[in-house]
Amino acid sequence: MEAFNYSVKSWWWCCLLGFCILFASAASFPVPETLVAEGETHYHEFVVQATPVKRLCKTHTKITVNGQFPGPTLEVRNGDTLVVKVVNRARYNVTIHWHGVRQLRTAWADGPSFITQCPIQPGGSYTYRFTIEGQEGTLWWHAHSSWLRATVYGALVIKPRAGTSYPFATPKREFPILLGEWWTSNPIDVINQALRAGAAPNVSDAFTINGQPGDLYNCSRKDTVIFPVNSGETNLLRIINSAMNQELFFTIANHRLTVVGIDASYTKQLATSVIMLGPGQTTDILITTNQPAGRYYMAARAYATAPNVPFDNTTTTAILEYQSIPCPATKSRSKSKSKSKCTSSQPVFPFIPAYNDTQTVTAFTTSLRSPANIRAKVPTKVDVSLFFTVGLGLNPCNPGRTCQGPNGTNFTASMNNVSFVLPSTLSVLQAFYRGVNGVFTTNFPPFPPTQFDYTGNVSRALWTPTRGTETYRLKFGSTVQLVLQGTNIFAAENHPIHLHGHDFFILAEGFGNYNPRTDPAKFNFVDPPLRNTVGVPVGGWAVIRFVADNPGAWLMHCHFDSHLTWGLAMVFLVDNGVGELETLEPPPADLPRC
Ligand code: C2O
Repeated sequence: MEAFNYSVKSWWWCCLLGFCILFASAASFPVPETLVAEGETHYHEFVVQATPVKRLCKTHTKITVNGQFPGPTLEVRNGDTLVVKVVNRARYNVTIHWHGVRQLRTAWADGPSFITQCPIQPGGSYTYRFTIEGQEGTLWWHAHSSWLRATVYGALVIKPRAGTSYPFATPKREFPILLGEWWTSNPIDVINQALRAGAAPNVSDAFTINGQPGDLYNCSRKDTVIFPVNSGETNLLRIINSAMNQELFFTIANHRLTVVGIDASYTKQLATSVIMLGPGQTTDILITTNQPAGRYYMAARAYATAPNVPFDNTTTTAILEYQSIPCPATKSRSKSKSKSKCTSSQPVFPFIPAYNDTQTVTAFTTSLRSPANIRAKVPTKVDVSLFFTVGLGLNPCNPGRTCQGPNGTNFTASMNNVSFVLPSTLSVLQAFYRGVNGVFTTNFPPFPPTQFDYTGNVSRALWTPTRGTETYRLKFGSTVQLVLQGTNIFAAENHPIHLHGHDFFILAEGFGNYNPRTDPAKFNFVDPPLRNTVGVPVGGWAVIRFVADNPGAWLMHCHFDSHLTWGLAMVFLVDNGVGELETLEPPPADLPRC
């Protein structure tokens, strides 16, 4: 199935702009900056379909987009509009989420199943339309229903706005690098079976780089991904953690990584030998090919923080290959074949931190900084102050069932002791927009209903959360401070918490219980990193601030899909503000029905 992908200069955009300017001068209010730039519109068709894919010696039918795994890379500029028609030819319900895209006034295009839309049913289709506004760097897209995102994902590359360039020398080459997680069986069966049993889902069989496990796995060597480079270049690598349930270290043998962006926001340049990404996070790095011409492994493997919890401890690799590798004279048997390149040489293997090396992770995440000009943007006055616990829980087994969670229980997870339940008759956003009662409550607690020693020895009486579709309502424009506090319930763990529709500043992070008297002294108001996903330290906390400037229903959740499935989520409802530019657009006519 060939996709039709093309872009048109939007002449009508100019007309709209002209109209706005006329209208603006007549009504004398300023034209918003976002309408001034002229963007292109890119049209794509995504056909979600079953496709045979062979990995680790076995062919399985996986759900893909356009038969590609990973799915197509979308490339746009800041200011461009994307129109993606998603056609569902698979046997599962599906939605696509544009991870990290602000979706200003277009919450209908955000994608999480039963939050902003009912899923696209088999045979159905839905067209996502949205504009990239003020974001540059790397984001990605993925399925947002059940566990389909295990194979339904791809990169979203956002180049600088037309007529502008990077805040660093233009790289010679650019490579999107998607880190994934592979199950030999059907990922949907993996989660459904785990839910039936109440147990943790089986860990994956491999990690992948751009869909390939690499040299260290069975039957994979001939398909290892190779990134060709020449000596003396500076290249941009756009790393995306699209794994389901695993935070990952990423490193390249003998090459320094210079971080220049995270989650589609630029950073101060940060030199390091290794980076860590939670699922959902992206990191743009520059590498200079200043090493002896040769072959160098890049590798990713787990950063695993929950004690005594099984994880996939395998290592995925790809090869950075200088195109002028000299072949040792004795080994070059055929002169005619590949004169300048010696691809038989064994790549150099990098040092990767230990699976539980929290010290390295902390040193890295706390060194990330926004560029210096960010200060004015960090909200200093707080309208709404929130404190959410994030962690696991255990539910008792229903009589007559056998549950395979710890001590015969069921695994669950919650925020502020509420385990989130997806609606099934209408999405939260539709119910909010139309004022339909009975789909959700606005009772999500701003503080934990019971205060306890979150990172101490937590009483068993506090291990079982309540259940509900609970949301927290925010006035348009309110500034929100949110303390995310990890708990020790069952197992402390670093949780990658993702907020839809907003970027947030990470003011501080730490271990143990957040202390409201002493910890605010550690807040960085000068150059805190701006992200859409924060790793809440294992047995610790993180403080974020954001402005609720985007009307809609916005899911916030742990980006480990197992935890999301267990209910580690909540929804912010953001009201409309004043006037059209602060008001959610009406729903598209083809919005799927439940
Ligand atoms: Cu990347 Cu709610 O997701």
